[in-house]
Amino acid sequence: MQIVRSVAAMQRLGQGWQRAGARVGLVPTMGCLHAGHLSLVERARRMVGPRGKVVVSIYVNPTQFGPAEDFSRYPRDLARDARLCRAEGVDVVFAPGDKQMYARGDGAGFTTYVAEECLARVMEGVSRPTHFRGVTTVVTKLFHIVQPGVAVFGAKDYQQAAIVKRMVRDLNFPVKIVVAPVQREADGLAMSSRNRYLVGDLRGQAVVLWLALQRVRVAVRRAGRPMSAARLKAALRRFIEQTPTARLDYVEFFEPETLAPVSKVTRGVHMALAVFVGKTRLIDNTRL
Ligand code: PAJ
Repeated sequence: MQIVRSVAAMQRLGQGWQRAGARVGLVPTMGCLHAGHLSLVERARRMVGPRGKVVVSIYVNPTQFGPAEDFSRYPRDLARDARLCRAEGVDVVFAPGDKQMYARGDGAGFTTYVAEECLARVMEGVSRPTHFRGVTTVVTKLFHIVQPGVAVFGAKDYQQAAIVKRMVRDLNFPVKIVVAPVQREADGLAMSSRNRYLVGDLRGQAVVLWLALQRVRVAVRRAGRPMSAARLKAALRRFIEQTPTARLDYVEFFEPETLAPVSKVTRGVHMALAVFVGKTRLIDNTRL
């Protein structure tokens, strides 16, 4: 396994694979890898086959963090990540530095962004207004640098995956986007690098997101008829905020493809929520 730190070196590798006709799978990450990330690596390997190339990018992308968010304290451990990738049969870890991705030698600032303007305006886009512009910009850069035929994203960040799919369709990127299921801890908490922030009894409290999803799933199946989204939202806020340090940021019910909010909730509708547990903001989602 190779660890590549420079954009130019990664681009040369990618171009070489292109010419040789190798199938290339990319798994973009911000590192601090866990079993959720590794499930995407496994999926990428299945997609490209034993002779294909699997690239994991590890880059904590500054442009997708808001000014008051956790960019500087986001966990970073490249040595551990590289060990996990090697054990998983990854061919290349691409771990560029900030200077590689966003600053140029001649000192000119970075001024070009790629932004999706519809799906990015709801849910996470309301709470984190510049977040998705940072994501679509860095994913575009990674696609141009690595030139994968397939890229694997997790359903944990459901809205992110929908926006990347839309961008790839709208801008004709020659990349197939695969979305892999959410991997969870034994108690249902979705795996996340940010779960490291949950110390002491916060970890136990974080299960409230999973409990909320389960409650609605059961209610919708039992009801057998459409339920009012507004009423469900009010009940969920009460339920979630019974947990001492939990505060609901948003909960939404929407069409799985268009992300358009629905007022009547039935089976097949998608549910997503964001909850602060202490100071840590957690997200989760499921199809009902
Ligand atoms: P990061 O949060 O590191 O996640 C990298 C990928 O792993 C994303 O596609 C995410 O959805 C997926 N993932 C995270 N937790 C998961 C889980 N429990 N089960 C399944 N998949 C999971 O998402 C990002 O980084 C960044 O926004 C990125 C796309 C790399 C752009 O900077």
